[in-house]
Amino acid sequence: MALYHYNRKQRLLLASFALLFLVLLGLCHFWSARDPGSYFFQPNEGYRPEYSVQRIHESLEWLSAYNHSDAMGPSLPDISPPHAKSACVGIVTVKRPLQQDLDTTVGSILDTLTPEQRAALTVQVLFALSDPSDHPDYNQTWLTNVVDRVLTYDDLADAPGWIILNLEKKKNIKKKSLIDYRLGLQACYDMTDAPWIIMLEDDVVAQRNWYEHTMRSVQRIEDWHRADAIKDWLYVRLFYTEKFLGWNSEHWPIYLAWSVLVVSVCASAAIYIRRTVRPAQGILTNSFLLVLCGFYVPLLIGLFFLTGRITWFPLQDGVHLMNTHGCCSQALLFNRENIPALLGYLEHMEDVVPTKAVDSVIEMLATRADLDRLAISPSQMQHVGAASYKEKKKTWKWEGPYRVKGAHGVWSMGFEKAYGVHSTGHGWFDLDGAV
Ligand SMILES: *[C@@H]1O[C@H](CO)[C@@H](O)[C@H](O)[C@H]1NC(C)=O
Ligand SMILES: *[C@@H]1O[C@H](CO)[C@@H](O)[C@H](O)[C@H]1NC(C)=O
Repeated sequence: MALYHYNRKQRLLLASFALLFLVLLGLCHFWSARDPGSYFFQPNEGYRPEYSVQRIHESLEWLSAYNHSDAMGPSLPDISPPHAKSACVGIVTVKRPLQQDLDTTVGSILDTLTPEQRAALTVQVLFALSDPSDHPDYNQTWLTNVVDRVLTYDDLADAPGWIILNLEKKKNIKKKSLIDYRLGLQACYDMTDAPWIIMLEDDVVAQRNWYEHTMRSVQRIEDWHRADAIKDWLYVRLFYTEKFLGWNSEHWPIYLAWSVLVVSVCASAAIYIRRTVRPAQGILTNSFLLVLCGFYVPLLIGLFFLTGRITWFPLQDGVHLMNTHGCCSQALLFNRENIPALLGYLEHMEDVVPTKAVDSVIEMLATRADLDRLAISPSQMQHVGAASYKEKKKTWKWEGPYRVKGAHGVWSMGFEKAYGVHSTGHGWFDLDGAV
């Protein structure tokens, strides 16, 4: 079936298909450079920090005004009556290699709040070290000036002191993380009556309007829940990475079915045209259709899949159900109602070998208890911690082109582009996506 089997028109068409394919290849390459699920993903593009650099700068500048001992605290109004608080922000902080980002985390969640919004929040930082003065930020002046409660293990009645010491000695970071997460969550639950508890890692940075967006999203979720549009829910994700939202291998039968359908539709359409349109009869011969439907169309389908799912189907701005493939526990807002169950489950899992990571344990509970998990898109927070002792390395040094980055590529591509100077945020709630 060599090329001379084809007449001039057919050869012309085949050549233009080839050209078209090359153009599309170039376009897809360009479009999906920032999609981590794409074959054409370019780390230098996708992991380039933009908005987060601006936010780190803003939040540290704001914080430095509270960084001397005669600085007035942000005149925290008295905490009364109960339920005056909308949310408790619990931050568990540990010592990190290379750099601490606690100042950025705390600064960026507070620097844009109105006094009323600030008064509605309780911010608690748990220094999860048996000797908290080992932590470079424990003695910082800004800390007590802007945070509601600085906690150590000594402040928590049920902190298992000797177990912690032992885990620190053995460098069993996984199990210690589970315990610390539970203690931080429990502290917010016990010390406030806030209906929402936001657990943050000590290396995230928030977008300027995170508080408003988050609170409005949560109200919306509650409306859906009352209207039975969603099940009872465990958390709302304020940070997610697009990395795991690509094509999923377990869905291959669906992808295959669609591919077969596309090829069959193409073939049927061509045969139909051949029958009804006279001039097409000389072109749409069997051997021509074989190349068209057996080669070009599959090639285009291949290109479609290589380009990555998020490029074709980006998450709309708004709230989404994300019961699978949501990754990482950097920033989660929990529903107070379900926290006792989660606390119990975390405690139970602390003794299960092999130890699971915090985010897996949370997912396991949600699945067992049949609770929905939601996410706000774009991410309200970015993960900017370059490194953590969870990686067992001998030496630590800065790697890659950027200082601001999420370790392991745990990074929100959307965050960097969504809130820049050019985006106004208008219409944010007009498009609601999946639910
Ligand atoms: C606060 O002051 C300390 C000591 O001078 C300094 O190391 C730290 O970077 C300052 N932090 C901020 C956020 O300004
Ligand atoms: C913090 O202060 C305590 C007591 O003043 C001191 O022992 C400790 O070394 C300090 N830690 C740091 C990191 O500066």
